[in-house]
Amino acid sequence: MSTRNICVVGLGYVGLPLAVAFGNKQHIVGFDINSKRISALKAGADETHEVSDAELAASDIEFTDNPELIAHCDFIVVAVPTPVDHSKTPDLTAVRSATAIVGRNLSKGAIVVYESTVYPGVTEDICIPILEQESGLKHGVDFKVGYSPERINPGDKEHTIDKIVKVVSGADGESLEVIAAVYGEIILAGIHRAPNIKTAEAAKVIENIQRDLNIALMNELAIIFEKVGIETRKVIEAACTKWNFNRYFPGLVGGHCIGVDPYYLTHLALHLGIHPKVILAGRDTNDGMSKYVAEKVLKELIKAGKAPKEAHVLVMGLTFKENVPDMRNSRAFDVIRILREYTINVTGCDPLLHYGTVEGEAVRVKNVPFDSILDGTVDCVLVINAHNVFKSITLDDLKRKMKTPPILVDLKSMFSKESALREGFSYNNL
Ligand SMILES: NC(=O)c1ccc[n+]([C@@H]2O[C@H](COP(=O)([O-])OP(=O)(O)OC[C@H]3O[C@@H](n4cnc5c(N)ncnc54)[C@H](O)[C@@H]3O)[C@@H](O)[C@H]2O)c1
Repeated sequence: MSTRNICVVGLGYVGLPLAVAFGNKQHIVGFDINSKRISALKAGADETHEVSDAELAASDIEFTDNPELIAHCDFIVVAVPTPVDHSKTPDLTAVRSATAIVGRNLSKGAIVVYESTVYPGVTEDICIPILEQESGLKHGVDFKVGYSPERINPGDKEHTIDKIVKVVSGADGESLEVIAAVYGEIILAGIHRAPNIKTAEAAKVIENIQRDLNIALMNELAIIFEKVGIETRKVIEAACTKWNFNRYFPGLVGGHCIGVDPYYLTHLALHLGIHPKVILAGRDTNDGMSKYVAEKVLKELIKAGKAPKEAHVLVMGLTFKENVPDMRNSRAFDVIRILREYTINVTGCDPLLHYGTVEGEAVRVKNVPFDSILDGTVDCVLVINAHNVFKSITLDDLKRKMKTPPILVDLKSMFSKESALREGFSYNNL
């Protein structure tokens, strides 16, 4: 148990699991400006599904939307969203506003650690001045800051917070050791001390840039290999037998991390007069995949002699990735919007979302349970996410929902191509 009084500010996908990890060891404060979220957490339910009811009940967290409770704490972790705006510019509104709230309730001797993904410089050049201005205290004398990137992977029940090495950094050697010790209480995998805050900020952002670029490469290869008439996944499987080939697969890149974080570094690079052409090329390729997928569906419908206007496509999986209920920047909605532009009728099926009409990024789509889809109305099934809850669905189940000839566009290769072809499907994947 740490001697510090801990408060986690921002109780979303990142903040809540962290708060629960600390709350398993000691009493802590969990603050969020969203009163509805606080009420739900007080009632014992996490709508992000990252934390089970039992885990929530077992941890000692005082959930609050009252910022004054922050003043009783001397180790404050900030985990608020860092999206981009419509012009792909970093939107630091939540970081600034959470920092101002913390500043107004900052006690002498406190350490404020940021976990939000940012570009190098945000903690020191943007947050410290706000903390000083709002608190009237002096950084380095009255309080200190640190940065520790969060690397959890929502929906992943294997790589939980305690099993991921924690990168920590502090304003000086003393704060670094306190931060390392506090996190050391909950992280079993080990603590990595970065030499300074900017290094830790940069480390997080490049993890996601590397992933984005690797997926972009696979997406480009998938477009080439389709023309060649070979299966990308089979090519990757073969290439993976070499020890230093990295395993990535093509796909839609949505969400609030991989598709967003690169813009934080490109923003900084442009500000420094550097054109980050490799990073932006990857972003461009990945952003173009929604159109590519929608065109794939259109081509399959036309090949099967189905007029787009009369065609009905069932999209399976509307969230931004497998096994999470998170719809932020889900590319499923881009695909649906483009299919609609082609006059195609689209229905969604995602058991991880409430059934009914889903308001996804201005595309309203009807989300229905798989079992309720009327027999024989669907021309094409487009699998965007292979959620675990879909795994029991068979090709036979699909066929019963579909007109003939049934078309399957299976971005995640949830079904075997060979079996689908044997069953009489027209099959396409990435
Ligand atoms: N979700 C991920 O996969 C993931 C993984 C690693 C890092 N990150 C990073 O962690 C940060 C948080 O992401 P998230 O997915 O947890 O976001 P989220 O949207 O799930 O949660 C953020 C929470 O912060 C609250 N909040 C917003 N403004 C606030 C304020 N001013 N004061 C207090 N609370 C406030 C919101 O109400 C919300 O509950 C982001 O920078 C993100 O890039 C996310």
